[in-house]
Amino acid sequence: MEEMSRRNLKTLAAALLGCAALAAAASAAKPPDVDFVPTPHKVVREMLKLARVTGKDIVYDLGCGDGRIVITAARTAGARAWGFEIDPDLVEEARLNAEKEKVGRLVTIEERDIFTVDLSSASVVMLYLLPELNVKLLPQLARLRPGARIVSHDFGIEGYPPDVTTTVHQYDGKVSAVHLWTAPLRKATDYFALD
Ligand SMILES: C[S@@+](CC[C@H](N)C(=O)[O-])C[C@H]1O[C@@H](n2cnc3c(N)ncnc32)[C@H](O)[C@@H]1O
Repeated sequence: MEEMSRRNLKTLAAALLGCAALAAAASAAKPPDVDFVPTPHKVVREMLKLARVTGKDIVYDLGCGDGRIVITAARTAGARAWGFEIDPDLVEEARLNAEKEKVGRLVTIEERDIFTVDLSSASVVMLYLLPELNVKLLPQLARLRPGARIVSHDFGIEGYPPDVTTTVHQYDGKVSAVHLWTAPLRKATDYFALD
């Protein structure tokens, strides 16, 4: 009888472990919410300049692609930087790029869904996503410390006017917008309340 219940317990444990493995595989297989389109290096430099990134900063790039933003933050400012990316091939590429640029000590690339990342340790958050994804991130952005900066390439956050927007003229004639906000984010209606 005792032997039987021990076997039952083992079967149950194996089933639970199987479920956990399946759940992990399912979450790892989530497709990207937006495809990889790299930010041109000239725009990366403007994003770092607008956020006034220094060696004291902790920079997060949500959907880091090949890692260029976090690598440049580490290489040019000495910042510690985390890139979060869902595509395993890009995760590998970004890690290799960080090693090639000799900033592996400062840069960490994590294979993660950006919607599961706790932003409370970041002092700068970089975005090059889509407007609806920026809005979806609002509950996480609300956890940023006061004074943390958010910089987005091209896309705004609906209902939340940026502090500053600058433009970058690229070599191919395209013009990119770069927006800066400072935490805590204020809704457009909060500005009227100040009058
Ligand atoms: C437009 S690219 C920007 C890449 C990089 N930040 C840059 O500016 O060069 C967006 C990146 O987000 C990644 N991505 C999309 N959905 C994601 C998610 N839910 N979690 C993590 N990364 C995601 C894509 O694989 C892609 O590399």
